[in-house]
Amino acid sequence: MREDIEEIVKGNKIVVRDLTKVYKRGRKEVIALRGMDFEVKQGEFLSIVGPSGSGKSTLLKMLGALDKPTAGMILFDGHNVTLLDDHRSMLYRRQKVGFVWQYGNLVPELSALKNVILPMRLAGVSKEESEKRARKLLEMVEMSHRIEHKPNQMSGGENQRTAICVALANKPELLLADEITGELDTETAEVVMVMLRKMNEETQTTVVNVTHNPRIAEYADRVLHIRDGLIEGQKHAIYGDVTEIDAKGRMVIPEAVRSLAKIGKRVVLKVTDEGILVTPLNEDDYENEP
Ligand SMILES: Nc1ncnc2c1ncn2[C@@H]1O[C@H](COP(=O)(O)OP(=O)(O)OP(=O)(O)O)[C@@H](O)[C@H]1O
Ligand SMILES: [Mg+2]
Repeated sequence: MREDIEEIVKGNKIVVRDLTKVYKRGRKEVIALRGMDFEVKQGEFLSIVGPSGSGKSTLLKMLGALDKPTAGMILFDGHNVTLLDDHRSMLYRRQKVGFVWQYGNLVPELSALKNVILPMRLAGVSKEESEKRARKLLEMVEMSHRIEHKPNQMSGGENQRTAICVALANKPELLLADEITGELDTETAEVVMVMLRKMNEETQTTVVNVTHNPRIAEYADRVLHIRDGLIEGQKHAIYGDVTEIDAKGRMVIPEAVRSLAKIGKRVVLKVTDEGILVTPLNEDDYENEP
């Protein structure tokens, strides 16, 4: 069944469809994302939880236009981010997205206050205006007493609270957080998550947070579980395998897919708007397979 993508775009800030990323390492291929589908609503706080190597950082890089997927689309307010050229990707990152990483992204020589002021000054905001906003953001994460401290004079949690302010300085519409509590003890991690949640609610910034820790994921409105580059429970998960077509046009259909679609020895090919539809000529064929 074809979905009404325009209708889905209307109700969502972000719509991800069939997102696929294949990394090439020499002659070897690593399939990091196998056709992910999900949506994020305006102002929503979404957590994506999955084990190491499941594709979390890869997914965030695609959402932040730091890298291009091999296939699939990411619609941001209905515009396909994956089609942006380098210059427009840079503008998208600068104007729409804020990033917080696992290892602090603060400038070591600058105080907390100056770290938060910096991106605003670079974006052309006046000195007065940027200092006012920086103080307000730091106050929101309860950092007013630490604004003159440099990163190495602050705790890990204080560093990350400041990093959240840096990411929100230029009022992004989307905040991407990659394992931001990975280096923190449980208690400090919870304080950082409470602050992130509060900033999401007060600024209405859409948040996508990825983590391997299910407890950290729970601060979100909604949690998606991923494994091996796929969202768990996604219906067409099994079709995520990438299949090669040889020089003669032959394609291998994995056994699991053949069994699901009851594909035996002969199929009918039909070209549709979405691609080639492969249907069994006779479903009994499959049963008669040796
Ligand atoms: N630049 C790259 N080149 C080749 N393979 C890569 C590259 N980046 C990631 N991968 C592979 O893609 C898969 C997903 O990696 P990714 O970094 O997205 O995982 P992750 O869920 O963020 O893991 P972690 O929790 O350890 O950070 C892994 O198998 C990884 O080895
Ligand atoms: Mg990662």
